[in-house]
Amino acid sequence: MTSGIDVQGPDGEAAHVPPRLLALTGDQSTGGPPDLDDAASFARDLHHGLSEVLLGAPGAVTAAVVAVLSGSHLLIEDVPGVGKTVLARALAIALGTDLSRVQGHPDLLPSDITGVTVFSPDTGAWEFRPGPVFAHVVLLDEMNRTPPRTQSALLEAMEEQQVSVDGESWPLPRPHLVIGTQNPVGQLGTYPLAESQLDRFGLSTSIGYPSAEIETRLVLHNGGRYALDALKPVGDPARWQQTIDATAAVHVATPVAEYAVALVRATRSSGSVRLGASPRAAISLLRSAQAYAVLSGRTYATPQDVQAVAVACLAHRLIADGGPADGPTVVQDAVATTPVPLT
Ligand SMILES: Nc1ncnc2c1ncn2[C@@H]1O[C@H](COP(=O)(O)OP(=O)(O)OP(=O)(O)O)[C@@H](O)[C@H]1O
Ligand SMILES: [Mg+2]
Repeated sequence: MTSGIDVQGPDGEAAHVPPRLLALTGDQSTGGPPDLDDAASFARDLHHGLSEVLLGAPGAVTAAVVAVLSGSHLLIEDVPGVGKTVLARALAIALGTDLSRVQGHPDLLPSDITGVTVFSPDTGAWEFRPGPVFAHVVLLDEMNRTPPRTQSALLEAMEEQQVSVDGESWPLPRPHLVIGTQNPVGQLGTYPLAESQLDRFGLSTSIGYPSAEIETRLVLHNGGRYALDALKPVGDPARWQQTIDATAAVHVATPVAEYAVALVRATRSSGSVRLGASPRAAISLLRSAQAYAVLSGRTYATPQDVQAVAVACLAHRLIADGGPADGPTVVQDAVATTPVPLT
């Protein structure tokens, strides 16, 4: 175990990178050619493992796998007790890493998430103490209970994979998956997430209530805890990063890209939205379609892959006239009215 390294900040000041941070920020990519077969088997194993733990919620499991493969972040919006935390814990276990958890509350400060710079009498230097965001898998539970100032501390982390504290920037571990959960918007004591924050989540999903049959299985089998205890890692962060690289290399024909863009543009011209999906959303839509292709065992993306992820990718980013619940309808309308190429 090393004792970390000393670095110089932008103004020449000394700072110390602790070993935990150093270990996490190492380059995880292989540099070799992406192996799509390996990516597909990683995706399948991950999907299988998560489905064994989170029962009766195939949409949420697929959204989680797509987020992992596309290297993006996942928002889970649902009522208490439906398995949000269990899904996050299962993801961390399956990805061979720890879950770093932050509980949202009104007094949470930005530094409670990002970390602080403190003076170390031992080294005589200012030392950065990384906050809980410095982990491969971060669960931000009940994000919308934190005030906007703290929510915005996450913006840079989620988009730029780094954190700036006291004028210095610190790289986050790669891959980096933020799982944000929020209670249905409008509940007492919640601060709605800003559009810019929502746009940084690659996908949004909900879990929903299980069927009576599954709920009976849960109550008979200790709430499904055994399945979580039995879950084995399907890989580690290095293999996860290789999978992200391989997913990015999935072939996208120009008409498929044009189709994704047409869908995004259709949300902008919809008569029932005040804000349509952004170019960031278009990029994310295509990356998610590539991930869906990998999960389906293909080396190229199709318009159907784009359709399969469209609602999870786009609905949460729209401001629909009828409120957030109308987002999925706007996206479904866009899918229904946009001509499909290559058919
Ligand atoms: N679909 C499901 N599959 C497996 N387990 C489930 C499912 N729904 C609920 N559970 C079980 O219900 C319990 C509560 O789940 P969990 O703590 O993940 O809920 P939560 O959505 O995070 O709730 P909160 O919003 O209060 O944090 C756990 O024991 C979990 O295993
Ligand atoms: Mg929970």
